[in-house]
Amino acid sequence: MPRRVLITGGAGFIGSHTALVLLEQGYELVVLDNFDNSSPEALERVKELTGSNSLDFVEGDVRDLDAVNRAFDCGGPIDGVIHFAGLKAVGESVADPLRYWDVNLNGSRVLAAAMEQHQCRTLVFSSTSTVYGEPEVFPLHEQMPTAPVHPYAQTKCAVEQMLGALCRSRDWRVACLRYFNPVGAHPSGRIGEDPLGIPNNLFPFITQVASGRRDKLRIFGQDYPTHDGTGIRDYLHVMDLAEAHSVTLGHLFQATAPHQLTLNIGTGYGLSVLDVVHGFEQATGLPIAYEFVERRPGDVPKLEGCPQKAKDILGWSAQRDLAQMCRDGWAWQQANPMGYRTNP
Ligand code: NAD
Ligand code: UD1
Repeated sequence: MPRRVLITGGAGFIGSHTALVLLEQGYELVVLDNFDNSSPEALERVKELTGSNSLDFVEGDVRDLDAVNRAFDCGGPIDGVIHFAGLKAVGESVADPLRYWDVNLNGSRVLAAAMEQHQCRTLVFSSTSTVYGEPEVFPLHEQMPTAPVHPYAQTKCAVEQMLGALCRSRDWRVACLRYFNPVGAHPSGRIGEDPLGIPNNLFPFITQVASGRRDKLRIFGQDYPTHDGTGIRDYLHVMDLAEAHSVTLGHLFQATAPHQLTLNIGTGYGLSVLDVVHGFEQATGLPIAYEFVERRPGDVPKLEGCPQKAKDILGWSAQRDLAQMCRDGWAWQQANPMGYRTNP
């Protein structure tokens, strides 16, 4: 019998790539999404790419217990859940913290309550490397203290703690994956990251400059204490991240006792903004115009994590390099200049 997995937020950037990987591995899926930041077209394309019909879909909000119960009841019993649904923009979380606490924490609470009700206690949760705050010692290890400095990261820390309490009180198997910076797209160019409006993040901004949709990249800060003065992050290919979810889920299904795993998911190698710009130019042959502007409030000089624990426990490590992230991200942007939308 194939395992059946509920994916909340499965139409989003990371969720759609993970759904594709799981379908290719023979899982049955049900996706719950309210399309707050995504399009149903992503799921159509996942079906088209995999040729699989084992994907059910429930449109609804993860904060709505009835909607979550509908997802649990729309096919056979659910064996495990991957919880992507949530909000992720740091600036927005500062401007509207209540919305972040509601969607990210309350949404996770409602989901966990429905899981309890259905006696499904296997969960992979999307956490983030920003839970480490503004660290000064690198690389980051999972046992280092968390020190979230904005509501987005605070909500993620709170959910990690709530899930920890569940693992201690009942027979739950939980993995909190602290992602570094996922970028790129499926190599087909059919699914990818589809930010609404002006992208906040570096990678989609670069691909939009390459396509002529934006005139130049504004590099936030030139005076960080890094090798070239620009900020350093650990960028990983979204397909590597999607595969990390499938091996994590496999690991939890094998677990014989209550379990809470917290894992850094990154390459372990930091790249500066200028490294990424030049890497993109090399990989695609396209020039990227840029200018230096003021630092962006809330940015840290550097985030670089050690992914050794994921390698030791799951046997997972990132396989794709910057050139592939750039080529695949560019293929997606070129084929879909307006993302999943047909009109600007
Ligand atoms: P995304 O916005 O593309 O995907 C999130 C999905 O959740 C979207 O499809 C959205 O419509 C859905 N959603 C939002 N609120 C919902 C609600 N109340 N009910 C049901 N569905 C809802 O984002 P992503 O980049 O795929 O990120 C997925 C998860 O990973 C998020 O929880 C995010 O915080 C976390 N994360 C992302 C990054 C990153 O750089 N992309 C880094 C670290 C952690
Ligand atoms: C940001 C969020 C992080 C979130 C992640 C994914 C902040 C402070 N952090 O991470 O919590 O999990 O997005 O949504 O918002 N840069 C430019 N010009 C740009 C865009 C970015 O120079 O137009 C630089 C940034 O200063 C940074 C690097 O590029 O040094 C990466 O930025 P970004 O892609 O936004 O990722 P994070 O800041 O790591």
